[in-house]
Amino acid sequence: MELTYRPRRLRRTPALRAMVRETSLSSADFIYPLFVHEGAEVEPIGAMPGANRWSLTALTGEVQRAWDLGVRCVVLFPKVAEGLKTEDGAECFNENGLIPRAIRQLKSQLPEMAIMTDVALDPYSCDGHDGIVSEQGVVLNDETIDQLCKQAVVQAGAGADLIGPSDMMDGRVGALREALDDEGFEHVGIISYTAKYSSAYYGPFREALDSAPRVAGSKPIPKNKDTYQMDPANAREAITEAQLDEQEGADIMMVKPGLAYLDIIHRLRQESELPIAAYNVSGEYSMVKAAAERGWIDERAVVLETLLSFKRAGADLILTYHACDAATWLRGG
Ligand code: PBG
Repeated sequence: MELTYRPRRLRRTPALRAMVRETSLSSADFIYPLFVHEGAEVEPIGAMPGANRWSLTALTGEVQRAWDLGVRCVVLFPKVAEGLKTEDGAECFNENGLIPRAIRQLKSQLPEMAIMTDVALDPYSCDGHDGIVSEQGVVLNDETIDQLCKQAVVQAGAGADLIGPSDMMDGRVGALREALDDEGFEHVGIISYTAKYSSAYYGPFREALDSAPRVAGSKPIPKNKDTYQMDPANAREAITEAQLDEQEGADIMMVKPGLAYLDIIHRLRQESELPIAAYNVSGEYSMVKAAAERGWIDERAVVLETLLSFKRAGADLILTYHACDAATWLRGG
């Protein structure tokens, strides 16, 4: 055949392939999510093989391990004791709560590691919702935001670098920015869960924190988060959310889940110049783990290919439970 153009020429050797590679993955792209609890033990999470609920004592060692592998940011999620959960989630702004203590400990022992927090009521709510549920079973927007602002200010006071509202209440980014600035935390950034979909992929996470929506008393509790998290059928709406977050002062925008929403990452990349993060969520993690345990897929290859796909779609940052494994593999380990 007389072909002028043969794309295989540039795929012929590893050196040629490396020269024309369009995207790359680095451990500095990762944000490592960690679960903490009050217990003295490190407790494996059944639905997330390889992930644990860390005791505060063991937490620093795991964060140090991540730092040594080149990971530069962790995000902390609390498994709150059932007895501390209330309808208004007030434990979320307890200065001596689990998360503020974890942040202060990490900042004193590993001050250079960036710390991101999650802002939402679900780990602290006896109803398992991200906001306050009214007697009629409605998740209240503005009342919830008051709580979230107090939560964010306490987290910033403990030393958090990035505040991550995951609640999807309208107007929360602007309200958080103002609350943080009023308290002298203008240097603390907001990484907004901009396009967070109402997704079944969060299942293992809710098991890890025991935070799924549930009926605690006599009031009706919505079974899902569809009145605040986005409809998986919608893409244009993500652009609207992104425009609002940008106007309200978000520093980084996030798309969540990641893998089933690569088109959303791509669209936000074209709409905005802000850094974009993808959340490779618990269900995505556990599916890979389960298939790998059965020997059905090559875990290392699948994880690295998946993480690369977020970068190719346009993400700058990736929240992933695979962070330490992937960082090890990137070093050839
Ligand atoms: C809480 C929150 C959730 C996740 C991150 N923050 C769960 C939810 O919205 O129900 C999910 C993360 C994951 O599945 O890995 N607002």
